[in-house]
Amino acid sequence: MFSDNNRERVRAASDIVDIVGSYVPLKKAGASFVALCPFHKEKSPSFHVNPHRQIFHCFGCGKGGDVFAFVMEYESLDFPEALRRLADRAKIPLEQERGGGDPQARSLKEMLFSIHEHITQRWQNALANEASGQIARDYLAKRGVAKEAVELFRIGYAPDLWDDTVNWAKSKGHDLVTVEKGGLILKRENADGYYDRFRGRLMFPICDEQGRVIGFSGRILTGDEKTAKYVNSPETPIFIKSKVFFGLHKSKRPILDAGYAIICEGQLDLIACFMGGVQNVVAPQGTAFTADHARILKRYVEEVVLCFDSDNAGQNAAVRSLDHMLAAGLAVRVATLPAPHDPDSFIKSFGGDAFKKLIENAEGFFDYYLDRLCALNPVSTDKGRLAVLRSMADAVQKTNNRVLIDKYAQRTALRLGVTPGAVWAEFRKAPHARLVARSDDTIDSPAQIQRPGSEEIWLLKLLFTHEDLLDWAVAHLLPEWIEHAAVREIVSSRLQAHTSQSWVSAGSFLETLATQEQKQLMTEVTAATEQLPNPAQQLMDVSMSLRNAHIEKQRASLLLQLNQPGTPEEARLGLTMQREQLRVAKGHPLAAVGEA
Ligand code: CTP
Ligand code: MN
Repeated sequence: MFSDNNRERVRAASDIVDIVGSYVPLKKAGASFVALCPFHKEKSPSFHVNPHRQIFHCFGCGKGGDVFAFVMEYESLDFPEALRRLADRAKIPLEQERGGGDPQARSLKEMLFSIHEHITQRWQNALANEASGQIARDYLAKRGVAKEAVELFRIGYAPDLWDDTVNWAKSKGHDLVTVEKGGLILKRENADGYYDRFRGRLMFPICDEQGRVIGFSGRILTGDEKTAKYVNSPETPIFIKSKVFFGLHKSKRPILDAGYAIICEGQLDLIACFMGGVQNVVAPQGTAFTADHARILKRYVEEVVLCFDSDNAGQNAAVRSLDHMLAAGLAVRVATLPAPHDPDSFIKSFGGDAFKKLIENAEGFFDYYLDRLCALNPVSTDKGRLAVLRSMADAVQKTNNRVLIDKYAQRTALRLGVTPGAVWAEFRKAPHARLVARSDDTIDSPAQIQRPGSEEIWLLKLLFTHEDLLDWAVAHLLPEWIEHAAVREIVSSRLQAHTSQSWVSAGSFLETLATQEQKQLMTEVTAATEQLPNPAQQLMDVSMSLRNAHIEKQRASLLLQLNQPGTPEEARLGLTMQREQLRVAKGHPLAAVGEA
């Protein structure tokens, strides 16, 4: 479709450091640039951009290529789309493009970007200049939203009609089916045609990290209790809510400069922060804060400050986001606003400087959480103290950090006026022992589950990449040796599939696994492309090591019974003998692979 000439001209005009750098914060490291890989989860950067070769490569996930490959991968575009995108950016007209001026020939995503850009302008104009926009202008004035904010965030007004957007789209020659796919209009149910999604609303464009408009959030202007305060774009090919922050295209530079990101709940909160002189702010789109959100922030910073509404919904949302933050490796502080404020009303009442102070003084997440738990539970009763203790233990354990666990055990003890010893015991208990306690919590995703040990992971890798080892495994490996429940289940199913000759493929096996955790573990180990050296030996070593650890656990538990005061002498003898037998069993080697 395009000549090589086009391709090379666009390539020459598209420096890979510039292009990649517009999506991902690149840091200079010697002769190249590095970043956290945008294509996989990671906590330290293994994504490299080489300016001399104009190549990127991630040593973590193995993705790599030239500038076109990057744009294709990042934007999920095919080659012609990526070429057009880079050509537009470099202002290079593409020659010999068949149907170049014909909108039908452009990809759906490209058309949606263009429609969103144009309707943004249309709604900006309605707000600024049209008579119908008076109600929105009055509202903004009443709320104290400055003219600069309206311009900076391209706020607009969608007129209060059922067919304003429909007619606008027709007059501009946009295909209504496409406009519907963008979520701006909806199909009528009992008649032909379409009607507007956004009617009589203040329109906030939601942008991707490059600043392209990909969706909208529309706020109601009347006090009508019957309609939702906000109507948002649905998920579309260009708008994936769980991965979008409102405001990030404007705040990414300030976030990098500040070294931390403030997270608030709403668009108007973020805008108030900007106007109050605090610009390192993002707002998740809608209310839920997702694992993707946390990972996006981790590309920019190591620390976040949560600044949610002071109401219960806001505080619960802050607590719920913790798992994702910790999983992404982000440090978390929490700024608490005095009730009944949200950042917007706080800044309007007390000013930007007071807000800055509040952010600077934000306490660590666990200090905040301890305060909140003590406020929510009657700590003068045993029941209340126990509830605080357990919730604190659950939360702190998620860090997997012994120092932190001990530190907060001590603080919790101090706060509750109980002895540190009792608190330590609770804090060091395995988390799953207490998981049952949390039931009515509306947690978006299950709490981070314990990772298997490295030997258990090795075992999975071996069993899924070396079919020839399965005869041996069926004969010599006992699933009960495996401590991690999900790994044990997978291995047991894998061995069974081999015995019953029902193994067809990894894909079909995956479907038979019972839990999401099991599925994820399996794809993780099967996706790895590394070659395992000497797999037969490894399988024996790993199996033996798991067996021996299992035996040691049994022996330890026997010892515990032995040391129990009041165990009768006969029983003691039996226990001692069992322990001895186990010790001998531990000395036995496993049969070599290939032997019966
Ligand atoms: N939100 C939403 N749909 C709703 C309510 C809220 O998507 N029905 C999202 C919006 O992004 C909103 C954020 O959640 O900005 C916070 O909600 P809320 O605190 O109710 O709104 P505010 O931002 O405080 O808006 P306002 O100040 O205009 O009341
Ligand atoms: Mn709010």
